[in-house]
Formats: sequence, structure tokens, C-alpha cells
Amino acid sequence: MKITIIGAGYVGLVSGVCFADFGHDVVCVEKDLSKVEMLSRGEVPIYEPGLDVLLNENLDSGRIKFTQNLSEGLDCSDAVFIAVGTPTRHGDGHADLTYVYQTAEEIAPLMQDNLVVIIKSTVPVGTNRKVADLLKQRRPEIKFHSASNPEFLREGSAIEDFMRPDRVIIGVEDQFAEDVLRGIYRPLNLRETPIFATDLETAEIIKYAANAFLATKITFINQIADLCEKVGGDVQQVAKGMGMDGRIGAQFLHAGPGYGGSCFPKDTTALARSGREAGAVQSIVETVISVNEARKASMADKIIAACGGSVEGKHIAVLGVTFKPNTDDMRDAPSLIIIPHLQKAGASITVCDPQGEKEGGALLPDVKWVIDPYDAAKGADAVAIITEWNAFRGLDLERLKSKMSAPIIIDLRNIYNIEEMVDAGIQYYSIGKRNDHI
Ligand code: UGA
Repeated sequence: MKITIIGAGYVGLVSGVCFADFGHDVVCVEKDLSKVEMLSRGEVPIYEPGLDVLLNENLDSGRIKFTQNLSEGLDCSDAVFIAVGTPTRHGDGHADLTYVYQTAEEIAPLMQDNLVVIIKSTVPVGTNRKVADLLKQRRPEIKFHSASNPEFLREGSAIEDFMRPDRVIIGVEDQFAEDVLRGIYRPLNLRETPIFATDLETAEIIKYAANAFLATKITFINQIADLCEKVGGDVQQVAKGMGMDGRIGAQFLHAGPGYGGSCFPKDTTALARSGREAGAVQSIVETVISVNEARKASMADKIIAACGGSVEGKHIAVLGVTFKPNTDDMRDAPSLIIIPHLQKAGASITVCDPQGEKEGGALLPDVKWVIDPYDAAKGADAVAIITEWNAFRGLDLERLKSKMSAPIIIDLRNIYNIEEMVDAGIQYYSIGKRNDHI
């Protein structure tokens, strides 16, 4: 099968490389020439574990190539995936569909009969149909097929998620498009991955509903964590006990500083917006958005409280600033709210993050970046763990404490346990547990 991918961002690049690995011939069309050149040399512009190896294997086998030239990319193609960005539009919370429609306009004059046009970008309900109408208008003589194929991969485990998904969702209007998409995903049959075919609108809503539901699950456990801190109980054990119920499931019940990233904040906002416009207000999702925003700011207050109520003139070491581990992505990261809040309260900040400086350098002015967590702790009045990178999970607590001015650790990801911290003589503040030990 010959597949064209438009947009070599996170979703487009990972999908392209994985489809090539499935054995398809893939051409990725990308407007940014420097990206095309980098990728053609086998260099990956983002940090995603394993992606560089898989890219190079498939470049070597000749199954993937990158170009700026759309007509070259679409030549003899069976299926084209639109995987361009749909960021939040400034001002109103809508998904900005400029790139999607622009891409449709560019594809239209190059379409050949029986091309399957698939939107992989996350787009509000109705977008697939509007794009299909646009293509029909531009090329009434061509028989093309529309499809929606939302993506569920996570940053940091993107390849594993793509290669071993829980399910593949395809929204189609005819058997031809369904057969082509089933053919593209045929390698997943070995693992008996369910391929769920439905209509265009349902597929679009599944994507938003799934992300909003996961964001709700996180926000729910975060509020339960607040309750545990006040009345006793351990949120990690509460989550474990809840998760044992198969109807609830154990995943996405880790309490923390609030969700961030390029998807949950953007997609919950867009869903809330679609709900308002359609007269079906998504009040649960709207509440989740505001509770999550407030939580990020409250994490700075938690750090200030642990420091005795003021951080004026104090030095705080921050471990982890990316929105989650195993990525260099800083979009909507809790650290972007927490650190400026601490600085405003008079603290000076040193940051250690295995990948964060490239993106975070410009977003977090006036912080000092170091590569070693023990260097970050030098002279610190407190250490705050904001992102749970593996590099921070097994720190030598005695050594860390010996570097610090005051032995205070605020662990916003619950990666340590109270007993080991007490043994090391550290005042330890975590999420969703009462501080009776201090
Ligand atoms: C999310 C979804 O999980 C993917 O299925 C989806 O494809 C993707 O959005 C997308 O729409 O493109 P991602 O944003 O990469 O993936 O990362 P997640 O692992 O979902 O984490 C999102 C945020 O939630 C992070 O800030 C993370 O720290 C937080 N989180 C996650 C928690 O606070 N607790 C948890 O239990 C899980």
C-alpha cells in the first residue's frame, strides 16, 4: 500500500514511521524544509524514545521518505493521512482548523480516483464532513473516499502505543474506505487488535470523549488527594483500591500537579466549546478544566507552605519541568505555572530536567539549568519534584540532603515513600497524604 502523510509533527511522524515499519511505502510531506532535511538524514527533531532507531531502519530499507513536494507525495497514493496541527485558537478556545482546510485545498487539485482521504488530526465533530464537501466542490468529477482515524498514542510511549493499541477507530462512509483502512492496519491482526468501524461524526467524538474522560479521571483523583490530605487516608492506596474494580480500571489514577501537555488541555477546551455551540453544555468537562487550572497554581502554594509560609529570598531546586517524563514537550506543563509563581513570591530557582532545557529555556526565564540533580540541590532550601523522570526516582537521599541548606522535599508525583524520607531525616511532603510524620 502506498501511504502519504501530511505533517511530520508528533502524530504524523510516528504514524509515518510505524506504517513504514508495517511494510507500507510511506511519503511524509512537510512544509518545513529544515525538518525534511533533518528527517531525511535520520535525525529526529523531537525527543521520543526509540523513534530515531525505527526511523533509520525504515530510511535504510527505503520504505519512508520525506519531501516538501505534495504532488510527489501524492503520486499513485492509495491513502492520504492529514496529520497537521489543530492548536487552540487564540481567544475562543476553538480548535484552529486553518492547517486542515489549507491542506484540503492543496490536496484537491492533485486527487486521483479512489484516493482515501483520512483525517488523523484531532478535529471537532463535523470537520471530516466539511472537508469532504470542500473536496467534492473542488473536484466533482473525482471519486474519492473520506475517513476519520483519530490517534490515541501518548508522548513518551508513542511507538509502543501505535504498535500495540487497545483499539483502532475508523470513521467511514463506504466499504471501500473501510477496506483500505483495515488493509493499512492488517499487521495488527496478529495481536487481535479490535478495529472499530463507525461513522465520521462518531469517530470524531470518540477521540474528544476519550481524552476528556481521562482528564476527568485524573482531576477526580486529584480532588480525592486533597481530601486525603485533610482527613487522612492515602490517595495511592485509594486509587489502587478503586482501580481493582474492573469497571473503573487502575490507569490514569495517579494524583499529581494537574494534567498538562499538548492534548488534554487543548481537547477539553475544544470539547467544551463545541458543547456550548451545539447547546449541549459539557459542564463536567468545563469543571475539570477550571479545577485543573486552579490545581497547578495551588501546587506553588503547597511548596511555599512546606517552606514555612514564605519563599522570599529562598532557593528552590526543581526536578523535572516537562509535562511528563520521556518527552521534551513543555506545552501546558504544570511547571510553567508553578515556577513563575514561586519566582513572584521571591524564590530563586535551579532546574534539572533530562530534556526540558531545549523547549523550556525560553519559557522559564531567570532560572539556572543544571544537568545533575545533586548540583540542583546545592544550597537549596527545598527540592520540588514536578515531573517523575526515572533519573529522579532512585536518588541517594543522604547525599541529596548533604547538599541542601534545609532538608525539605515536596514530591508532587509521589515517587518516594514517607518511611525512606523519614529515615533520611527529610521533611517530606507528598500528594494525597496527611503530613502527620512531620
Ligand atoms: C494523551 C492521551 O493519553 C493519548 O491517548 C492521546 O492520543 C494524546 O493525549 C493525544 O490526544 O494526542 P499525552 O498528552 O501524550 O497523551 O500524555 P498522557 O500520558 O495522557 O498524560 C497527560 C497528562 O496527564 C500529563 O501531564 C500527565 O502527567 C498527566 N497524568 C496522566 C496524571 O497526572 N495522572 C495520570 O494518572 C496520568
